[in-house]
Amino acid sequence: MRRIFFDNAATSWPKPESVYRVVEDYLRSNGAPAGRSVYREAGEADRIVSETRKKMARFIGAEDLSRIVFTASGTDALNLALQGTLRPGDHVITSVLEHNSVLRPLQALAQTRDVSVTHVPCSALGYVDPDLIQAEIRPNTKLIALIHASNVLGTIQPIESVGKIAQNHGVLFLIDAAQSVGYLPFDARELSADLIAFPGHKGLLGPLGVGGLYFAPGVEDQVRSVRQGGTGTKSESLDHPASMPEKFEAGNHNVPAIAGLGAGIEFLESLDIETQRTKHREMVDVLLAACREIDGISSYGPDEGLDRLGVISLSMANCDVQEFASLLDASFRIQVRSGLHCAPLAHKAIGTIASGGTVRFSFGHFNTDQDLQILVAALNEIAPLLIKP
Ligand SMILES: Cc1ncc(COP(=O)(O)O)c(C=O)c1O
Repeated sequence: MRRIFFDNAATSWPKPESVYRVVEDYLRSNGAPAGRSVYREAGEADRIVSETRKKMARFIGAEDLSRIVFTASGTDALNLALQGTLRPGDHVITSVLEHNSVLRPLQALAQTRDVSVTHVPCSALGYVDPDLIQAEIRPNTKLIALIHASNVLGTIQPIESVGKIAQNHGVLFLIDAAQSVGYLPFDARELSADLIAFPGHKGLLGPLGVGGLYFAPGVEDQVRSVRQGGTGTKSESLDHPASMPEKFEAGNHNVPAIAGLGAGIEFLESLDIETQRTKHREMVDVLLAACREIDGISSYGPDEGLDRLGVISLSMANCDVQEFASLLDASFRIQVRSGLHCAPLAHKAIGTIASGGTVRFSFGHFNTDQDLQILVAALNEIAPLLIKP
């Protein structure tokens, strides 16, 4: 039976052939560290890192390649942004839709560094109202941190309006673009964003183990480095370099993952993101329409794909979400994620916390209409077996 992967919000699979190829090529034929030595392969490793940085900068509309800092993951980028900007006494505004990679660092900062945190609510369908954010701004508000698209509901948040509010009040604005980058076109220069965190392994199609943080020009001066170490530059100094991107990149780079990320971005550049987005919108509409016809299945978020990405949360009446997800894999090789998806406050907001969350279906660049038809047939087949009256 063919494996049908609908867990792309966790990490994307499969990857383009070129990603497999460059990772293997680097590991077999190169294997050198970047930015540290002068032999041929080391120079090539250096070039791989800098080319991917350039591609990444171009892809998200950054001013130049020095605006992109490589991290180990989306979580790592968010930790750098939050821990690097917030000081004792600061206030931060975020939302109930956030992932634990924002909620937990903020909780730790509240407990250890006297940072205060406001979680603004979302509507029943999963949207944050910019006016609610504006109403929470205080004299000591340092940062607004907002998810671009919910990893539970796929709902796309009004980041343009929130960015303008942040700018008008002189507050830093951090976007968690974990679910949107690679699936939604966006231009960093047109958003009033100071910091944009992203993983390399989801919509950008790179391997696990790489992410990044975009810094708007000058914002790096307001962010402390949270790790210091070797950079291969200014080695005579015990002070960590202040130049970009070294300021935030201590230690060896994950060159194979960065090589794969470069190939992933190149592949995306050969696609039309708008066409992919339309395809996902249509898939969302088809799945939601099919669910409306199946007794006992509930869906969360808006009824259509217009303002959401290809991420759908479902539950079945009186059926454990883990059982639902396990049966899909065991019987149909359909692979999804069940539970809270690391976003407990989002589940509180939509009323699914007590039942253990939802079953999440998330579409990737390689899912086909046939995958969707198989899924709809599977849901029709298993719903009568699983739903307990
Ligand atoms: C909204 C959101 N933010 C952050 C992350 C963390 O990204 P990573 O898995 O690369 O650490 C995820 C991952 O699921 C996510 O969905």
